Amino acid sequence: RTPVTLPMLKKMHKQGNPITVITAHDFPSAHVADAAQVDVILVGDSLAMVALGMTDTSEVLVEEMLLHCRSVARATKSAFTIGDLPMGSYEIAPAQALETAIRFKKEGRMQAVKLEGGKEMAPAIEKIVSAGIPVLGHVGLTPQRRDMLGGFRVQGKTTASATKILEDALALEKAGCFALVIEAVPSEVATLITKRLSIPTIGIGAGNGCSGQVLVQVDMTGNFPPGRRIPKFAKQYGNVWAESFRAIETYRDEVRSRQYPAPEHTYDMPQKELEGFAE
Ligand code: KIV
Ligand code: NA
Repeated sequence: RTPVTLPMLKKMHKQGNPITVITAHDFPSAHVADAAQVDVILVGDSLAMVALGMTDTSEVLVEEMLLHCRSVARATKSAFTIGDLPMGSYEIAPAQALETAIRFKKEGRMQAVKLEGGKEMAPAIEKIVSAGIPVLGHVGLTPQRRDMLGGFRVQGKTTASATKILEDALALEKAGCFALVIEAVPSEVATLITKRLSIPTIGIGAGNGCSGQVLVQVDMTGNFPPGRRIPKFAKQYGNVWAESFRAIETYRDEVRSRQYPAPEHTYDMPQKELEGFAE
């Protein structure tokens, strides 16, 4: 498959073909997503929680994101790649936002960046786009602002807050975003916003009326221990944890019982060399 470009994503949107986005955080998780021919791979700052064990996405550093971005970029041959700007790396001024975006491009080898926020981020987005780096917006539930929002809660459930999200979405489109993530809002709100925008919307917990969908790979492949709570919208398509657990447990048993390594996993020494060696 030829590498996915922004014009290709635009065309998919125009023709009403849903865009598939998935997160990846390292070489193998990007490799499998790219092989499965998703359209876009996002190195989300969710990696803070799902790959680095942090309690909050706001904890992850630019340098840490860049290490993961580079490993994802090495594995990605066809998907369009987007790096998530972490909290604190773009809010201070448009110049700061551009500086970080350039690092994601040059050091992270990403094709585009994502940042969270509404109309207050328009100047930063304009600045980044003016340097030729595409920007994906992110409205609704914005996890970096979790404490301000009072936790991971559905947004836009009232007329007033839904109107605010719509206004933010329109401002982000005007600022030059090529697409918008809409997270955890009622389906009706995301559908209406999608109709009012000319750029694609990528929903997560935003119903089936968006132009595309995004999920966190670890959630959708089931690569987490039993009992961990995942959001209502995160459909679990597999059970990678169970498969890894089974394999590792079997290995452990075979080491203990000396079933592993078997002759087929073992190197032999030529007989005459062995005689000399064993003397
Ligand atoms: O960090 C992330 O994975 C994200 C997506 C869920 C949109 O921001
Ligand atoms: Na994120």
